[in-house]
Amino acid sequence: MTRPRILVLGTGGTIAGSAGSATGGGYRAGGLALSAMLDAAAKLGLEAELVGEPIAQIGSQDMGWDQWSALHAACLAACGDPAISGIIITHGTDTAEETALLLDLTLPAGKPVVLVGAMRPADAVGSDGLRNLANGVAVASDPQGGGRGVMVVMGDAVFAAVDVRKAATANIDAFRGFPRGPIARVTPSQITWFGPPHRADAPAAYAWPQSLPRVAILTAGAGMDEKPVEALLGIGCKGIVLAGMGQGNAPGCVLDALAAAAKADIAVVRSSRVDEGMVERNVEVDDDAHGFVAARALGPAKARILLQVLLANGISDPAGVQAAFDNL
Ligand code: SIN
Repeated sequence: MTRPRILVLGTGGTIAGSAGSATGGGYRAGGLALSAMLDAAAKLGLEAELVGEPIAQIGSQDMGWDQWSALHAACLAACGDPAISGIIITHGTDTAEETALLLDLTLPAGKPVVLVGAMRPADAVGSDGLRNLANGVAVASDPQGGGRGVMVVMGDAVFAAVDVRKAATANIDAFRGFPRGPIARVTPSQITWFGPPHRADAPAAYAWPQSLPRVAILTAGAGMDEKPVEALLGIGCKGIVLAGMGQGNAPGCVLDALAAAAKADIAVVRSSRVDEGMVERNVEVDDDAHGFVAARALGPAKARILLQVLLANGISDPAGVQAAFDNL
């Protein structure tokens, strides 16, 4: 039986990090070449052929347009290549949710695309990277793995891009899904899916843009004033995502400044600085009157990515933006 061929796109992160000591505290994310990781994976006897393509060797805090464009192009080519069964992206965990959602919105859903990372560097005692990679191979090779959009595999769990977020700074089970939890449990030898593929053969939801407009996240805090809103408008933001208190709230002067921005055709999305929970329309804040959009289940980081993609695709009116958040 021929083994499935999996394209592995390397970008760096802790999964490619080296501490130089099994018990040391500090380390450098992205220090190891993808080939070193694939050499280690080759010794695991995985039932797949891994084909490496380095994209970057960075910590994911530096992920941006150039790396995203290269990833999107490589994924799109692999989606159209009948010899490739699935795609793995090795990625830092800090911004994995942002890259995952961006690709989820802009790639067809046919083949599995899986982000894997690690919370411990490759040479640390108890390193989780190789196991997450082996689990990612199991997901990317699975005939049931397609049609589910982009996924993140961490800590023996599979999360959909729309749900996933990093919820802890340092534990190997640092990832959570909201509003859905994991969509599958996985080990290198077994996968249990919790439901059927829900996007089988779906085309990309949005076109890959020429560029991404400037959208900022504004975190609300008690006692703040409206000056930060004015500063963001002053640097040319086309959209603002409020990481608000509770259900996306902010002091009255801040909401007034955001409403003035919305009247001037700046897209304003209310999300929450709280880890979990929905931000619904017109609960404490009158979104209809202010021209705001409610982020629903998306946290600030992913709300920003969705808003950038929408604006880049010419969707900027509050009703159109709200519909996209509602339909995610
Ligand atoms: C990074 O995101 O590149 C650093 C942290 C990590 O990979 O866990």
